Amino acid sequence: MPRILVFDSGLGGLTVFRAIRQLLPGADYLYLADDARFPYGALGPEELISGVLDVIGDATRDFAADCIVIACNTASTLVLPALRAAYSIPIVGTVPAIKPAAAATRSGLISVLATPGTVSRDYTAELIRDFAQGVKVTLVGSKALAGLAERALRGEMVSDDAIRAEIAPCFVECEGRRTDTVVLACTHYPLLLDRLRALAPWTVEWIDPAPAIARRVKQVLGLEAKGRGTVRARFTAGAIRNSDVIESLGLQFD
Ligand code: DGL
Repeated sequence: MPRILVFDSGLGGLTVFRAIRQLLPGADYLYLADDARFPYGALGPEELISGVLDVIGDATRDFAADCIVIACNTASTLVLPALRAAYSIPIVGTVPAIKPAAAATRSGLISVLATPGTVSRDYTAELIRDFAQGVKVTLVGSKALAGLAERALRGEMVSDDAIRAEIAPCFVECEGRRTDTVVLACTHYPLLLDRLRALAPWTVEWIDPAPAIARRVKQVLGLEAKGRGTVRARFTAGAIRNSDVIESLGLQFD
């Protein structure tokens, strides 16, 4: 059975993990969250790169992964080259789904909702340059939304106004046209999808890359994993803080 390590700064990577597990239920999983340093959106590049290499290095000492999935845009847009240099197994990243959004838009106005880190990356600028010619792209760096998603998943109260304030800049009107496609370029945001839909000032297509990442993982592993594999979770800040959430998602701890 393949062993798949799914990594994020916190609980957001669970949106990607869910999609992968649906396609490959027989694989053995380690869900690894560097929640001690959450949110990644606020970290500088050097700290982020060395921290991700350290945390993944520790985890792979006793979990011999066949594939590592960086289920975090903020990390992927920065650390994929360093990880690919350090490991000979496939490394699958999660990067802003600008290409499918540019292909899908009818109004020609798309928004990329992400962390402040992700919107500032050269990688993101290159995706826009290569795949969104002729499309007006609005980059929205949200400082708070990943944290709000974590709180909501833990069952804490998160007000409509708090969410509305974070997504408002995504909705642009220009010469009679309106944004019709919003890229969820942080894996935490699909955790709030129902509320994003309900609070949007008008209907848009929200693009969640998780199913595409899952297809990619299956493709790079090149095999069917049948049956039911094991799932473990490890949090750098300690398991206790997140135990209710993880158990409610049917996961188990190391
Ligand atoms: N889930 C992460 C992403 O996809 C970021 C959240 C954070 O700021 O740590 O970008």
